[in-house]
Amino acid sequence: MTTDAALEAPYEILTPQSAAAYVRSRPGLASRIDADDIGSVREIGDGNLNLVFVLTDGSGRGLVLKQALPYVRLVGPSWRLTPDRARHEAEALRLHGQLAPDLVPQLYDYDPDRYVLAIEDLSDHRVWRTALNDGLRHDGAAEAMGRYVAAVAFGTSVLGMDAADRASTLAAAVNPELCLITEDLVFTEPYVDAGRNSVLPANEADAAELAADRTMVDAMGQAKWTFMTRAEALLHGDLHTGSVMVRAVDGDEGRVDSVRAFDSEFAFYGPVAFDLGALWGNYVIAAARATALGDDERAAWALGLCTRTWDAFEAGFREAWTDGRVDPRMFGDDLREHLLATWRAEAWLFGAAKMTRRIVGLAKTTDIETLPPPLREGAARGVLRTARRWVRERGVDSTPRRAEDVAGELLAATATRG
Ligand SMILES: Nc1ncnc2c1ncn2[C@@H]1O[C@H](COP(=O)(O)OP(=O)(O)OP(=O)(O)O)[C@@H](O)[C@H]1O
Ligand SMILES: [Mg+2]
Repeated sequence: MTTDAALEAPYEILTPQSAAAYVRSRPGLASRIDADDIGSVREIGDGNLNLVFVLTDGSGRGLVLKQALPYVRLVGPSWRLTPDRARHEAEALRLHGQLAPDLVPQLYDYDPDRYVLAIEDLSDHRVWRTALNDGLRHDGAAEAMGRYVAAVAFGTSVLGMDAADRASTLAAAVNPELCLITEDLVFTEPYVDAGRNSVLPANEADAAELAADRTMVDAMGQAKWTFMTRAEALLHGDLHTGSVMVRAVDGDEGRVDSVRAFDSEFAFYGPVAFDLGALWGNYVIAAARATALGDDERAAWALGLCTRTWDAFEAGFREAWTDGRVDPRMFGDDLREHLLATWRAEAWLFGAAKMTRRIVGLAKTTDIETLPPPLREGAARGVLRTARRWVRERGVDSTPRRAEDVAGELLAATATRG
């Protein structure tokens, strides 16, 4: 693939052989790793889009290089995709790193000519989704992500940023190609199949019912409108549990001492609740797995992450509000309450959108896909039913506790335990 890639890109593609020379050519990296003493270079990209390498030097220091290609890595040069996504990731990392330094990987360098980011090596962390699939808890991660969304929501919005700075940041963050992927895959294709959907034969009726559910489709139209028009803050844009890395406290896999949101190439100015809903939707998916495996206690724990994330988000947002808005003249406490109430109800809507796309759409999750089909059937059905109920009940009592209860009931009622 690398050889083909070189032919298809108008800039040089990194290889394990060229990575050390590349680091040597970037003066900003001299203090991070010894380019003359690189012990190993591993390509670790388990993702679909980009090349990711980890380099280690003789004294054990590490560095990650992530390079965007002008196409989707998994598919190849036939699916073109702007490499400018690397710039969006770099700009989001830089700004989010200023607002929440402990909650994102540190960005060491960005090379706009070759679309390469040099990032802090987080090899001592694990991707949260795989840790969840292994039955681990990492308590504290959900709260950390709530604090992250709060810091970004406040700090990149008109509340926390000078209006002129925010306008130029917003202009630079317009990310049409990556947003179009979300508009298609998250908000449209689960309901209007473009030939990329798939489910188990046993779930075909569930997918058909979903697409024929007028209330659901109308709600997703509203969600899509909000996603495309409401430029509140510089979102992460793809904040599922596979975009979070966690590191446990030494000797205690149950608790976490470091949590980082990574892979922010979908970053753009959008509605704050989109990031919250992404987390909620993926917590429901983790709970569906636990229910399918017969572990009801774990399912309840996973659903409880919705409240933990929300409470930490709300507390963080209130604290930032009190600490100081850039211009409090017209942004009074009524506005704060209005925003929080709006976002809480919208988290149900975006959570529903994120759940269904992972069941019927193109990009699925290992939580569900690694279940044996007899168990997967009920888990998939439970997630789809939860989404359809969430859009109906979001305006009634929008507390996250209620969202969890709705999900818990439906997951239990639809489980097929083989
Ligand atoms: N800073 C890091 N330190 C250690 N490992 C990392 C780091 N960044 C990424 N990884 C590993 O590489 C994988 C791919 O990274 P990333 O998700 O950023 O790439 P991607 O090509 O954008 O993937 P996707 O298809 O999910 O968009 C991650 O799942 C993780 O396992
Ligand atoms: Mg990515």
